[in-house]
Amino acid sequence: MANTKRIGILTAGGDSPGLNAAIRGVGKTALGFYGMEIIGFRDGFRGLVEDRRLKLDKTTLAGILTVGGTILGTSRDKPHRMMIDGRTHDMTEVIVKNYKRYGLDALVCLGGGGTQKSALRLHEAGLNVITLPKTIDNDVALTDATFGFATALDIATETIDRLHSTAHSHHRIIVAEIMGHRAGWLTLGSGIAGGADVILIPEIPYDVEKIAAAIRRRSESGTNFSIVAVAEGAMSRDDARAYNAAETRKGKARNQKEKHAAKVDIATLEAKHVGNTLRLAHQLEQLTRLESRLTILGYVQRGGTPSPADRLLATRLGSACGDLIHEGVFGVMVAARGDRTEPVPLEKVAGKRKIVPPNHPWIETARRVGTCLGD
Ligand code: F6P
Repeated sequence: MANTKRIGILTAGGDSPGLNAAIRGVGKTALGFYGMEIIGFRDGFRGLVEDRRLKLDKTTLAGILTVGGTILGTSRDKPHRMMIDGRTHDMTEVIVKNYKRYGLDALVCLGGGGTQKSALRLHEAGLNVITLPKTIDNDVALTDATFGFATALDIATETIDRLHSTAHSHHRIIVAEIMGHRAGWLTLGSGIAGGADVILIPEIPYDVEKIAAAIRRRSESGTNFSIVAVAEGAMSRDDARAYNAAETRKGKARNQKEKHAAKVDIATLEAKHVGNTLRLAHQLEQLTRLESRLTILGYVQRGGTPSPADRLLATRLGSACGDLIHEGVFGVMVAARGDRTEPVPLEKVAGKRKIVPPNHPWIETARRVGTCLGD
């Protein structure tokens, strides 16, 4: 049994509904159940570097279960690549030093894929690290789900529901851009739940002619409107080919120069992708002769009160995290597995992304109900 007395906790990466519920779950279990002390670090890993602390006690943990965002603040700073005075520095050693200086026995990191990688680095640097999986993208490997996803799914589905009546009234195509650069879970889930006519996700490159043909078929059968749910990262076949080729070049680079050149190509393609959904809406208007409009859901998907499903998941994972800290289990992410939780080694999670497999049951479901997936 570990003699854990004082733990630190931080939230990193994009915020996500359920972060406060998770902080509360860890905090109440650690403080109330095991009698530990808990210190919050503000604004992700930067808080550990710049001594931005917040002591978490009964009072600070009260009333936060239903509150969106994170009471600790967050940032996309990485320990090994942090911008300080306009220059990038590796702050790993500073973090290790501060962890010791604050007398921490463990550090809890709440975050998505990037945070799992950063946490592994800190664990390898000798810290007792344990993580929880959060992101509205639901793309963290080896967990059934991440908290934030269920709330974002509710919001995106409600938006698609609302777009239906206005698209129907005006006989329009409405393209709804939903978050997810690399993974299409949110778009696919809300597209199915909201009955979108077309669903485009990064995992399935699309052919605009096929989308237009599907919309025209609807018109010919008397339905003069269509809802197109598009993930931010959905790409046409040509763009996907160019992007995948650049990724392959990066993976196979034999030296830094080749790697840099591939990275530049990827950045150029990503810059070109900005505004893609607007271009898609225009293309569809031209190809179908139906007026089209674009709605970008944006940060609405990440804001506000977490859904009951996310509060439940975040509290379950948070309290299980408290138990694991008490048992001295570190270097793991607390994953959701059915009704239970399970510690998964960070080495297995870091650097992996859970994307929608081509044969996933949700894909089959969408096809069965006649949804066009753009392929
Ligand atoms: O990682 C979650 C996410 O919400 C993505 O879906 C989205 O593309 C991205 O974050 C936006 O990041 P930022 O908050 O840095 O603009």
